[in-house]
Parts: sequence; structure tokens; C-alpha cells
Amino acid sequence: MINWKVHTYATLPSTQDYVKELVEEGLPEGIVVQALMQTKGHGRHGRKWESPMGNLYMSVLLRPNCAVEEAGQISFVASLAVSDTIDKYIAKGHDKSLKWPNDVLIDGKKVSGIIMEKEADGYALGFGVNIMSAPEDAIALQDVWTGQVAVHPFRDTLLEEFGKLYALWQKNGFELIRKRWLEQAHGVNKSITVNLANKKIDGTFRTIDGHGTLMLEEESGKEIAITSGDVYFSD
Ligand code: BTN
Repeated sequence: MINWKVHTYATLPSTQDYVKELVEEGLPEGIVVQALMQTKGHGRHGRKWESPMGNLYMSVLLRPNCAVEEAGQISFVASLAVSDTIDKYIAKGHDKSLKWPNDVLIDGKKVSGIIMEKEADGYALGFGVNIMSAPEDAIALQDVWTGQVAVHPFRDTLLEEFGKLYALWQKNGFELIRKRWLEQAHGVNKSITVNLANKKIDGTFRTIDGHGTLMLEEESGKEIAITSGDVYFSD
């Protein structure tokens, strides 16, 4: 298992950008950069990620032993790890689910986002988890947690859970991760709209394939493979 080396900073523009620089510099797998606040936190599709004090902002440096086409599977490993970590804290009666490709939802609202970016010959995997506060329409763990909320114990548990699942994935491949992800997936067999860069597609969310690609069935019965885009559920 990876021996994580955690570096915590009071403020950084973005832990993700910082880890990408470290990848370029040739640093090894297992470096973790955490910031208590970010001034230029960003999410997928170049969106801003609000980063006030009290939430988890962390990026890890990875050098997986896999083909570039398989590396996207790691973001599913990461969302499962966040999900397993949340299980240790969430109070009963709340509904947790995974939204393609890598959001974690509680009661249908986003509690965590994940971003996986390639840089030179390695990857930066970024985790944002709303612990104390969340933007409008999102949710924080504080809202559903019975005990005391703290960022650092959550970070350590998440690294442990991610380390276990990442090792399992490196050894056995994607199938078990895929199966576990689908068991918790939001909206399987439900109607969804996928917003691609230049068009919208409506259909039924059937499954994810062996690469993490979303398989959408159009009304005509035609199957469409979606590799990137935003997904909206109609119910
Ligand atoms: C998303 O849902 O679009 C992904 C959000 C990822 C946010 C995290 S916070 C830590 C790391 N640093 C960043 O600038 N982004 C990621």
C-alpha cells in the first residue's frame, strides 16, 4: 500500500495545480497536498470550486501502472473511497449515492467532487469534500453528521480507504470497482439528459462499461457511449 506523505498548507491557489507541478518535477507517487483554503480552486470543465476554511481540499500524486486509457478508472476508485469514508460518519436516514462520473451525493445534493488530470508522465487526483459548509444547492457533512466534524481525521480515513481500493484496482483491475460503484449509482435505469459541449442527448442511463463510460439508451433503442459531459436526471 502507498505510504502517503501529507503536506498541509494554510492557503494555496489550488492543490491540484501544485501537484501537477510536482508531477512535472518528477516527484514520486504518494505525495499528498492539502490546503485549508484555496484561492483558485477549480473543478471539472474549468469551473470554480469555492474553497473556504473548514472543508477538505486535497490532491494526490499518482503514477499508476496502467495504460493512459485506463487511468480514468481511478476517479471511480476515488469516489468509492469518499463514499466508504462518508459511511463511517453519516447518520442513519440519509441517502448517499454516486453520480456519474465522480460526484458523491447525500440526499441528492453534491457533497464531494473529484478531478483527475494527467500531467507529463503522472496524474494529479483532486478531492473536494464539503465538511463544514457547502455552496447553495450542495450539502456539507456537518448537515448530516451526528458527531463532531473535523477535516483531518476525515482526510486520514479517506487516504486509508483510497489506498486500499487503489491497491485492489492495481492488482485486480476495474471490475470490482465498477460493480461496487454501480450498486450505489444515482439514477440507473432512469431518464437523464447529458449536456455535451455542443448538444444535449436524452435517454435512459443503463450502466457504465469497463472504462467507466456511461451507456445511454435512446428512445429508439440505440445505445450511445458518453465519455464526458454533465448529467442531469429528470426525477
Ligand atoms: C468537480 O466536481 O468538478 C471536481 C472538484 C474538485 C475540487 C478539488 S479541491 C482540491 C483540488 N484542488 C482544486 O483546485 N480542485 C480539486
